[in-house]
Amino acid sequence: MKNIDGLEITENISSKRILDIKIKEEIISELIDLFKRFDLTEIEYKPFTRFTVAKYLDDLTNNDLSKYLNHILRDRKTGCFIIGPEKITNKINDDFLVKLSTAITHLFGLPNYDSMAGKFYARFHVKHEDKSDSYLRKAYGNLDLHTDGTYVKEATDWLLMMKIREENAKGGESVMLHLDDWKFCDEFFNDPVGKQNFTWGSPRSKNIPYKVEHPVFYASQDGRALISYIDQFPEPKNMEQGMFLQKLSDSLESSKNKIKIKLSAGSAIVANNTFWLHGREKFEKNKYLFRELLRIRGYFNKK
Ligand SMILES: [Fe+2]
Repeated sequence: MKNIDGLEITENISSKRILDIKIKEEIISELIDLFKRFDLTEIEYKPFTRFTVAKYLDDLTNNDLSKYLNHILRDRKTGCFIIGPEKITNKINDDFLVKLSTAITHLFGLPNYDSMAGKFYARFHVKHEDKSDSYLRKAYGNLDLHTDGTYVKEATDWLLMMKIREENAKGGESVMLHLDDWKFCDEFFNDPVGKQNFTWGSPRSKNIPYKVEHPVFYASQDGRALISYIDQFPEPKNMEQGMFLQKLSDSLESSKNKIKIKLSAGSAIVANNTFWLHGREKFEKNKYLFRELLRIRGYFNKK
């Protein structure tokens, strides 16, 4: 296992493909001091400050962290890590967690503009009651396995999902599936329907005024399956496309190799969005259920 000063790195208990990275308290307390230089408005308005907070984090780990995170995310064998402070103390507030997530993502890429939130990241709640128009905030339904960014023009190479806080939450575990752990990947990848162009729209809350066309499956440079898929947004043009999507959804959801992760508050799952799918199980009913999440998604820095 990789050894970097200030970090504790282990293999995730549920999957060899996922690395757990805990940031030790001494690094966190130095970051708290360094991050005080910028408030959230500066981070949101001035893109260069996002690189400054990223550099603070990298410098505190001898500039090894950026190399390591790039390696994990681009490597087909892994492609995913869970990162967060070793211990949550009362000095860690939500502003700090936004800055920490910003710092982490700017070590390997650039964020896409998040139209739902009107900035480079989005914070949103999952609660008992919901009147929204997508599965994102529906606490009592499964959020089925999917990739992000299926309905936008920008490339979405990676995503970060951080749990900022939660109260009265039972259930709602994160679910992950790597394409190479899905038994039927080759069968669907080799089906010509999967390489047809599908139309992808999105509900009003996403604030995307256009639709895009792309296939569900495409090949990496070395010929391996990559996927861009979600259940709610493709608009099948005919029975053939409709049945392909239904079969695909049924096969993914019934996969025996789905990984369940109980993410603690203050931690983030970061995954390659082209060969990892993600979702969420439903919550147990509770009137006082509250979870706040932060997401950042984007593309890899060009080397
Ligand atoms: Fe998602």
